[in-house]
Amino acid sequence: MNKKILGLVFLMIFLFIAGCGSKEVEDKVPVKEEKLAVNPFSPATDCSFCHNQFYNEWRGTMHNLAFTDPFYAKMAEVASRETEGLTDKYCANCHIPIGVHTGQVPPVDGSGADTISLEGVSCDFCHAVEGAKGIGNGSFIVNPGGAKYGNLADADSPMHKTVYVELFKKAEFCGMCHSVSHPTNGLPLETTYEEWKNGPYAKEGIVCQDCHMTPTPGVKKPNPGKVARQGRERNHIYTHTFVGGNFWITEIMGAKEVAKLARERLQAAAKVEIVNVTKQGGMTKIKVRVSNVGAGHYLPTGLTESRQLWLEVTAYDGNGREVYSSGKLDQDGMLPEGTVIYHTEVVDESGQVTEKFWRATKILKDYRIPPKGYREEEFTIPNSSGSVIVKLNYRSANQAFLDELFGERKYTVPYLTIAQTRKKY
Ligand code: HEC
Ligand code: HEC
Ligand code: HEC
Ligand code: HEC
Ligand code: HEC
Repeated sequence: MNKKILGLVFLMIFLFIAGCGSKEVEDKVPVKEEKLAVNPFSPATDCSFCHNQFYNEWRGTMHNLAFTDPFYAKMAEVASRETEGLTDKYCANCHIPIGVHTGQVPPVDGSGADTISLEGVSCDFCHAVEGAKGIGNGSFIVNPGGAKYGNLADADSPMHKTVYVELFKKAEFCGMCHSVSHPTNGLPLETTYEEWKNGPYAKEGIVCQDCHMTPTPGVKKPNPGKVARQGRERNHIYTHTFVGGNFWITEIMGAKEVAKLARERLQAAAKVEIVNVTKQGGMTKIKVRVSNVGAGHYLPTGLTESRQLWLEVTAYDGNGREVYSSGKLDQDGMLPEGTVIYHTEVVDESGQVTEKFWRATKILKDYRIPPKGYREEEFTIPNSSGSVIVKLNYRSANQAFLDELFGERKYTVPYLTIAQTRKKY
């Protein structure tokens, strides 16, 4: 059976090279056959027969889609243009690491990449990591083509050598990529690892894997099962869903199950409460508390100049007529002035707020909710009795920015209410 799989793989590689070769001649693009032929990494389908459960979980995750993600692709293209190629390898190193390792990327559009690279952050990339040079900006050390590195000291596989590497069990493994700083000025742009490291979960010894490699939100230990079809029953296994908050791109790319898990994960992350109501001179003041109850880092985290988590507050009088509203999207999908938004703002050299983070020179604002922490906001409603609904909404990006990148309404970014509460006053 091993031979059968290998045979198939060689056939696929051969067909692929043959296909690419002829296409490249047509397009008059320099031939890259040599590079394609020596890709030392394996496609995920080489692992899927034995590790079928993990394969099914990983397919369609943001790791798998890290390069084909249209939001990433557009941003990488614009960054490359604006920086005259300075960001090409920098971005690709985390989003299509096999492409960079094999010299297939740049070009940033992936025209030189084979199907193995295009799988993004894949099985054989992560399991070729033998160590790390440090934290952030893709600081991994990879050694492909031989043993599979992993977390099991007692693994026994008929297919490949296995090597135990302690790093796999640590948050520092994720920190190699989930910590992004500016390529030239060093400004910290994505700080998920650092937020975790300085927060309460690190102190309790709860790592990224405990929350993101589990079947359900929160920590689930033990989660018994098998790590390979012919492996033994184990007391605890790590699922490979890597669920975050992205139900937008996953849905667009047809990964409905991952999108569903992302919605579920988001809804387990936060809580909103009305903690105080005071009345004065015909007005009602409500105090709202937003708590981060489920995320091991700030809420939101990651690409926080683009992500938007905001409060939508609507009050009604006794007849059900709306008397107050804050944070309601307008017809164009924009948030009104004065909306309470949890996110970050960075500015470029001229002091202009930008979501093109390669232009960032300074962090202007960081208004988010720390792990196990909360923030409180006040809203003044212009009447003295009625009812109020408070919703906490999340979306992956600001609509105005997507319109600027892609043209108006090419993408309408969906939002989700992740927590809500209501009260009579
Ligand atoms: C012919 C079946 C088979 C194929 C194909 C296969 N594996 Fe495995 N693999 C196993 C078995 C069996 C184990 C050990 C299971 C156990 O001990 O419970 C294992 C263990 C592992 C481990 C754990 C290693 C450790 O020390 O923690 C990793 C990682 C791994 N495989 C990755 C891969 C990757 C990546 C691929 C594809 C490139 C792959 N495997 C292909 C059968 C296979
Ligand atoms: C983003 C990196 C990443 C990707 C992609 C990835 N893995 Fe893993 N894998 C890990 C980490 C980290 C662990 C160990 C988790 C721990 O011990 O905390 C692991 C554990 C494993 C194990 C041992 C399982 C266990 O429960 O002990 C196997 C087998 C494995 N992976 C195979 C695969 C296969 C097959 C794929 C592709 C379908 C894959 N991995 C994709 C990071 C990755
Ligand atoms: C080789 C770099 C790399 C490593 C190592 C890595 N990631 Fe990722 N991860 C990425 C990239 C790139 C994305 C985003 C892809 C995109 O959105 O286009 C991502 C996305 C994610 C997401 C989905 C975010 C969302 O918005 O839905 C989660 C969750 C995640 N990673 C968790 C982890 C965990 C946990 C680990 C460690 C076990 C880890 N990652 C290791 C590169 C990496
Ligand atoms: C206590 C559980 C927990 C721990 C620990 C944890 N996370 Fe998360 N993470 C969550 C939850 C819940 C969400 C969904 C809410 C959100 O998007 O922030 C999330 C979201 C994410 C996202 C998507 C953020 C977005 O909105 O784009 C990424 C990426 C991520 N986590 C990576 C990591 C990494 C890397 C670590 C370790 C350094 C880690 N997480 C530790 C629970 C956890
Ligand atoms: C050190 C690794 C690393 C580097 C370098 C990096 N990224 Fe990312 N990128 C990530 C991770 C991890 C995420 C996921 C965070 C999250 O979900 O919020 C991400 C998310 C994104 C997203 C969000 C995708 C979505 O669907 O929501 C875009 C867009 C993006 N990156 C573009 C870029 C561009 C453009 C560059 C280069 C200028 C770049 N990245 C450089 C690791 C990296």
